[in-house]
Parts: sequence; structure tokens; C-alpha cells
Amino acid sequence: MAPTSRPESSAPATTETAAPYGTGATAPASPAGRVRTHHLLAAKTNGTRFAMLTAYDQYTAQIFDEAGIEVLLVGDSASNNVLGNATSLPITLDEMIIFSRAVTNGTHRALVVADLPFGSYEQSPEQAIASSVRLMKEGLVHAVKMEGGAYYAPTVRALTQAGIPVMAHIGFTPQSEHMLGGYRVQGRGEAAQNLVDDAVALAEAGAFAVLMEMVPATSAAAVDAAIEMPTIGIGAGTSTTGQVLVWQDMAGLRTGKIAKFVKQYADMRTVLSDAAKAYGEDVRNGTFPGPEHVF
Ligand code: KIV
Repeated sequence: MAPTSRPESSAPATTETAAPYGTGATAPASPAGRVRTHHLLAAKTNGTRFAMLTAYDQYTAQIFDEAGIEVLLVGDSASNNVLGNATSLPITLDEMIIFSRAVTNGTHRALVVADLPFGSYEQSPEQAIASSVRLMKEGLVHAVKMEGGAYYAPTVRALTQAGIPVMAHIGFTPQSEHMLGGYRVQGRGEAAQNLVDDAVALAEAGAFAVLMEMVPATSAAAVDAAIEMPTIGIGAGTSTTGQVLVWQDMAGLRTGKIAKFVKQYADMRTVLSDAAKAYGEDVRNGTFPGPEHVF
């Protein structure tokens, strides 16, 4: 993975000042300052990169935040990766809000983005605003992510005008997997132009970033060159400003076939399994609890 840079080091000259209305009694200490959408734009302008990971609970959020990951995504992949569903479709807005609040509460610095889940935004811009307001008000996130192309530009415009930052998601969009015929690379050959058109329409409507999933590197590069906003890739090659991975893939927690675009940085499944086996053995042979664990 390309080395990440700290977005605040590439922040534009407009430095953030102290909060004019106080931060509230429960506001967490935030010495480094919160990563903002303009820092991501500055990263693209300055030719630096940023990293994004999914997170669904407070401890992973805290670990990734302290590790300097700039953006945390409360992905609707929580449906598959936490709730055990076969796809991202069944997760509800209420469930997304619970995961979102846990993640935001675990962070001091990362920008936290939550997915608008399937069924929570497609009907109208009004529905998208109502769902996003709940994610921000109850889930405390700083921005939302929405799957879909140029068709959703009016929704993105309505959201941004309502003060809701939007990350667009194009290419392979898991919520449409039944329309797309399964997990397939999108935007090959001449279809690359459709991706570019989608990205331009969404960026013009106000999206602060465009995420591309499973698209050829050349198509992703064409999209990145066509818009001023930063692009973020997952299986989209090396020309994007940001990269994102699902944390259980990145850390080697999950079973099953691993996608070509995943790099595993740890073997958490073995670490946890070994710990559970050692604990079970200690309990069975009477070595846990030891004298030091007894009141
Ligand atoms: O839900 C998710 O985890 C995502 C990533 C795959 C980008 O949308």
C-alpha cells in the first residue's frame, strides 16, 4: 500500500480556529484536529494520499484512529462482516446508526463516513435527506456515502445543500449486485466513459469524493483525471488519492475466498483462535484463574 500522509500537513492555508460556540462538555480532546473533507481535497491537489478503512465498533475505530487512518467508513458491509448476512442488502438504517455511533465515539481525529443503506435513499432526495440526518444526528457521523451514478446527482445536490457532505460510490455497487449479475468488474473498455460521466455529474452536484470499486486501473485513472475531487479506490488501481479496504480483509480476520484487490497485513484469525484455544485449555486444566486473579 502506498504510504499515507497526514492530511492536516497538506491542509490549505485557511487554518481552523477555535470553535466559536464552545465544544460541549463531552467533546473529546482533539489535539491533532479532525480530518475534514477539505483536507482530502488538499491531498489530491498536493499529490499526497490518504487511507480509509471500514470500522463498525468503538475499539477498532479507536485503534485505526490512533494508527492515523484518515477516513473511517461505517460501511453497509457490516451486513456481511458483522451481522453475517450474505449481502449488504438486509442491513437497516437503525442498525447502521448503532454501528455509526460506536465508531464515531471511538475516534478523535478520523473523518467518519456512513453508508446510506439499501432502501434508505432511492425514493427521493427527501428520503435521502431524512436518512442522512438520522445518520448524522443519531449516528454522529460527519458525512454519508451513497451508491449510484449520474441518476443520483439531484439527490447529491439536495444533500449537500442541506449541509450533508456526500461521498459518491460508483463502479461495482454491492447494493445492486442482483442487477449487475454478481461481483463483477465494472467500467471495462468503452464503459469507462460511463464511469467518467457518472463521476463528473456527481462531483458537479457537490460530492466531496468519488469512491470506485472493482474497476480497471485505466478506467479509474480516466475518472481521476476528469474531476477535481479526490477519488478513492478499492480494486481500482494506483491512481486514486485514497485507498479503502474492509478491515476484516486487511487484518486477516475473515474466512473464505479473498478478493484480488485485498492485501492482508495480519493474521488476526489465527491470533484470536490461538488465544481462545489457550484460554479454553487453561480453564479446563484449572490454571485459570490463577492466584493473581482471585479476590
Ligand atoms: O460497505 C463497504 O464496506 C464499502 C466498501 C467496500 C467501500 O462500501
